[in-house]
Amino acid sequence: MLAKFKTTNEIIVPSEPLEQVIGQDEAVRLARLAAKQRRNLLLVAPPGTGKSMIAQAMASLLPKPTEEIAVLHNPENPERPFCEVRSLAQLESETHAQQKLKSRLVEPSAVPSFVAERLGFRCRHCGALGKASERACPNCGSDKYAPPEREFLVGGQAFINAMPEQQLQKRVHTTRLREDGEEEIIVYERDDAAQKIRVLDQKTLERLETLSRNKLRRVIVPFNRKTFVAASGASETELLGDVRHDPFGGHVAASGTLPYQRVVPGAIHEAHQGVLFIDEVGALAGVQRFLLTAMQEKRYPIAGRNPQSAGASVRVDDVPCDFVLVAATNINDLPAILPALRSRITGNGYETLLSVTMPDTDDNRDKIARFVAQEIRKDGRIPHASRAAVEALVAEAKKKAKALDNADASLTLRFRELSGVIRLAGDIAKDAGAPLIESEHVEQAVRRGKSVEEQLRDKYGSVFGGAASEFNRSQPRGEQKEIS
Ligand SMILES: Nc1ncnc2c1ncn2[C@@H]1O[C@H](COP(=O)(O)OP(=O)(O)OP(=O)(O)O)[C@@H](O)[C@H]1O
Ligand SMILES: [Mg+2]
Repeated sequence: MLAKFKTTNEIIVPSEPLEQVIGQDEAVRLARLAAKQRRNLLLVAPPGTGKSMIAQAMASLLPKPTEEIAVLHNPENPERPFCEVRSLAQLESETHAQQKLKSRLVEPSAVPSFVAERLGFRCRHCGALGKASERACPNCGSDKYAPPEREFLVGGQAFINAMPEQQLQKRVHTTRLREDGEEEIIVYERDDAAQKIRVLDQKTLERLETLSRNKLRRVIVPFNRKTFVAASGASETELLGDVRHDPFGGHVAASGTLPYQRVVPGAIHEAHQGVLFIDEVGALAGVQRFLLTAMQEKRYPIAGRNPQSAGASVRVDDVPCDFVLVAATNINDLPAILPALRSRITGNGYETLLSVTMPDTDDNRDKIARFVAQEIRKDGRIPHASRAAVEALVAEAKKKAKALDNADASLTLRFRELSGVIRLAGDIAKDAGAPLIESEHVEQAVRRGKSVEEQLRDKYGSVFGGAASEFNRSQPRGEQKEIS
């Protein structure tokens, strides 16, 4: 018996991502612990049971990153840019110092009249002062930015207003002569909030310059980043970073970009202070050794990885990469994981096997109902499901547990499969203009969404017998490694 509800719209979905994970209580418990203690996690499971979902949910529990990573130009040796790590506290104290320097504001009447005019405070016609944000002069009513009307004759013809319109400026640069005879720069800047003018003398400007670090510096891993970074085993550069090629090579000063501008962080660096999720970790093969080093050192250089490229001679040392590793693998691929890496993960973390089925109980049926509600909300493009449709989906979950894992009186946890049925049923309902997914839509979806194996089984009685008769042997959807 399912709990009381008429449609899935009434089912409450937990807002915390880890609580949305169904049927993997042990993995969820470990993920929570791993997030709290910053430990690694190895998830061993077949596809579609929630590995990515758990890793992502775990990342959402981590605190926001407090460090930013930048690369700086090294004037002495441009091919060895410096790495700079800045903390949030440092950034705050720098901004504070900047604000303090910039806090001196004066009234528009205290600056030269041409400055007040260009900043938009002074009327060009009558000289009255007003708000810079108002184009019409409060005193004479004329357009403050338009030049004073003047009539003049050219070749016997009268022209009016041939002077250009004044552009409203945010900043006016001037110079003044100091008492010691030296010229110094003064910058007047409009402060729109206060409707006043900030006066920056040369000394202040210089101090702001050193503080702002607008120097040759590039942030490669910003404060504001996700704590979840997924890397596939496919490419070494994606995982470890790279230095892009520059067609002008090392002749940087002449034409190309400086090496520090071409440094690209790897997933290990982007995951600094967050979760690095690697699906099918065994597929990394030899690259696992680099990953192991990165985990041991918590720093890893970024270097050009293509020997043909001008980036190959560039290296940034000591780039931080203090991440929590969540690795996932299929049971069959466990031996492909480097023993040293595996012991590194479990030596400071946990490994756990995800389940593929759960017993068919009332509680667990309710969980399937909640799963249906979750998937419908997540999809956002399909209608909610009626109670009868949910019952049909529970029956389907039971059938799949038997068909895929030969489990009796169980419900499947291979949720990607089930989620496909829900989406398809939703599309069918939507196409038919139905306000809800009904059981007949689920039945149609099951028929239409059958995998090739199931179609073979229906047609020939068994997958393998069918496969022999068909032109080619088909692989189960997304489960190439499991049935071979
Ligand atoms: N245990 C679960 N609880 C709730 N929903 C799940 C669960 N497992 C999977 N899902 C649903 O199925 C989708 C696919 O799951 P996910 O990508 O996490 O699977 P996976 O194990 O990473 O699969 P793959 O190995 O194919 O990458 C999820 O976005 C989620 O909607
Ligand atoms: Mg996945």
